[in-house]
Amino acid sequence: MAISVETKLKQERLLRIIEEELQDLPSLPAVVAKVMQTINDPTTSATDLNRLISTDQALAGKILRLVNSSYYGFPRKITTITHAIVILGFSTVRNLATSLGVVSGFDPGNMITALDREQFWAHSVAVASAASLVARRKNASAKVLEEVFIGGLLHDIGKLFLDQYFPQQYTIAIKLAKAANISIWEAEKTALGVGHVLIGKRVAEKWNLPPSLSAMIALHHQTAYAKEYMEIVSIVHAADYLARKVKLGNAGDTLVPAVAPEVQRWLNFSPEVWETLESDTLSKFEGATDFLKIMIGK
Ligand SMILES: [Fe+2]
Ligand SMILES: [Fe+2]
Repeated sequence: MAISVETKLKQERLLRIIEEELQDLPSLPAVVAKVMQTINDPTTSATDLNRLISTDQALAGKILRLVNSSYYGFPRKITTITHAIVILGFSTVRNLATSLGVVSGFDPGNMITALDREQFWAHSVAVASAASLVARRKNASAKVLEEVFIGGLLHDIGKLFLDQYFPQQYTIAIKLAKAANISIWEAEKTALGVGHVLIGKRVAEKWNLPPSLSAMIALHHQTAYAKEYMEIVSIVHAADYLARKVKLGNAGDTLVPAVAPEVQRWLNFSPEVWETLESDTLSKFEGATDFLKIMIGK
């Protein structure tokens, strides 16, 4: 009993420190925060967005490299942000800026972290790719396609926070997941008292990420609670399964948990469709290799 009280106290102390670190988390680059605000402002024009992004040449350059990557596969080079907006649409460019902002917000620099960042982002890009495929299979709207791509990219950002600010405990979580053959989510809760979905939600709130994105971050392991975000949360959940099934990347564990029954029911895919989605995820990911490299600055 004494041990469990001690463990509880330790965990409570840790949770308080996590709370403090969350408060101190640096804000996103100002330009990215402004770009995100345009989500709620229907009067923003392509020219406005171009002007905004162009104030940060490094960001603008990275966005242009992403839109020229083989993931999008445009035959002609896109040389300006305005051109990118015309070709890819307002929300794609805005989402790319947001994603790059989040990547830079969790740049570990020279710090050695427990989570292999390259493998982590490979998992994320694989989930984003799979999410687009699942959405297309469900004949989802263009809006949903946009949302699940960024949702796939950023669904596990809570892990980055825990890994960066609590490297010792996160090392334990990763080792525990492996040794006990449990999910990293379960292992986080044992090692830190809190899992990446809850932390991810807090980070999303702190950075004012859109509510749909916050829902995918917070609920991709608890799809039954997704309510009005059921469609996008279910797609990201299924995409997470697909990325794991075809062994792309590693975001802390390599388990392949079953797809939640409510998601299975809603998707209603035959075994053949699942198989096709697996092979399509592999080929889509292959086409996204340079996208991944640009994202993580390699
Ligand atoms: Fe997750
Ligand atoms: Fe994941």
